[in-house]
Amino acid sequence: NSYFKIAVLPGDGIGPEVVNESIKVLEAVAEVFQCKFQFSYGLMGAEAIFKTGNPLPDETLKICKESDAVLFGAIGDPIFDNNPDAKVRPEQGLLKLRKELGLYANIRPLKTYASLIDKSPLKRDIIEGTDIQIFRELVSGIYFGEKFTDPDGKYAYDVCKYSTEDIIPIAHMAFKEAEKRKKKLTLIDKANVLDTSRLWRKICQKIAPQYPDVQLDYIFVDNAAMQLVLNPKQFDVILTENMFGDIISDEASVIGGSIGLLPSASVGEENALFEPIHGSYPQAKGKGIANPVASILSTAMMLDYLELPEAAEKLKRAVEHAIENRYVTVDLNSEQHYSTSEVGSFIADYIKYSEKSYYN
Ligand code: IPM
Ligand code: MN
Repeated sequence: NSYFKIAVLPGDGIGPEVVNESIKVLEAVAEVFQCKFQFSYGLMGAEAIFKTGNPLPDETLKICKESDAVLFGAIGDPIFDNNPDAKVRPEQGLLKLRKELGLYANIRPLKTYASLIDKSPLKRDIIEGTDIQIFRELVSGIYFGEKFTDPDGKYAYDVCKYSTEDIIPIAHMAFKEAEKRKKKLTLIDKANVLDTSRLWRKICQKIAPQYPDVQLDYIFVDNAAMQLVLNPKQFDVILTENMFGDIISDEASVIGGSIGLLPSASVGEENALFEPIHGSYPQAKGKGIANPVASILSTAMMLDYLELPEAAEKLKRAVEHAIENRYVTVDLNSEQHYSTSEVGSFIADYIKYSEKSYYN
């Protein structure tokens, strides 16, 4: 099949700008690899609240369910962040979308780029050669448990709940990935304190014999936070629950030098969504300075998911080419830099013309 329906949710802040570059790059891919993408746009996040009162309008959900994959930009607006009393929040749209599409696994690959190593605040020796794949559970845990604020505002709670069905599928996914890689799986938890963490351990231990080549180990989340910046190379595949994964993956993003580089895929049995791990960066909105690479690399993950591995490889090579040639946005080079759209065009052009030129 070479015809794909893509739902496009640009979202808030710099979301629309970076997603635009992904579309540009996909159009180049379509030309070179003889496939066709049909894009359907949907509203989500603060944008959707301003226009419809709903962070995830039904129409958007419908578009997503009918598509082969969803391309998403970013979500969030300071108007809501600074108002704890807001009843409707942009983030609710994303959480509902994850739940409705059953996107239980959020996959975040982390690598260093040779030419960017010195961009990281961490020392070269520590990070060089790091290659980690994070599997974060995405539709359960404290994000989705019962929540309550008492009417007098004296107390509040959020329940963290996990069932075996929430854990088993993503655990298998992580073991399978480890089998294909360096065969090391690390479960990050807080099993010395939390019952939910002990359930995660039990399930992983039970599943482990089905993957005899994979070495399974465990680390408490506080120690993991330290180890990630002390010795990231000890990790291969990481498996963790929703909130630990949220925190750990932002922390781990400093290894690569810029959060503007990191893509993610959120997948379930029937749907998949691809988004940069960075947020909406409202201060940069409309300035053309946002790094489109994270969105473009998320698009590469989408191409892999759509079983277009050659196109995905080509796209990744195009990104590497841009980075090696210092064709980057201001976050990666403050002296000489290019705009969001210049970087996107450079990458798209490489896809279109490199075959015919001296590049290959
Ligand atoms: C992420 C984001 C979201 C999360 C927010 C926007 C709800 O931080 O995708 O990591 O916490 O999952
Ligand atoms: Mn996050």
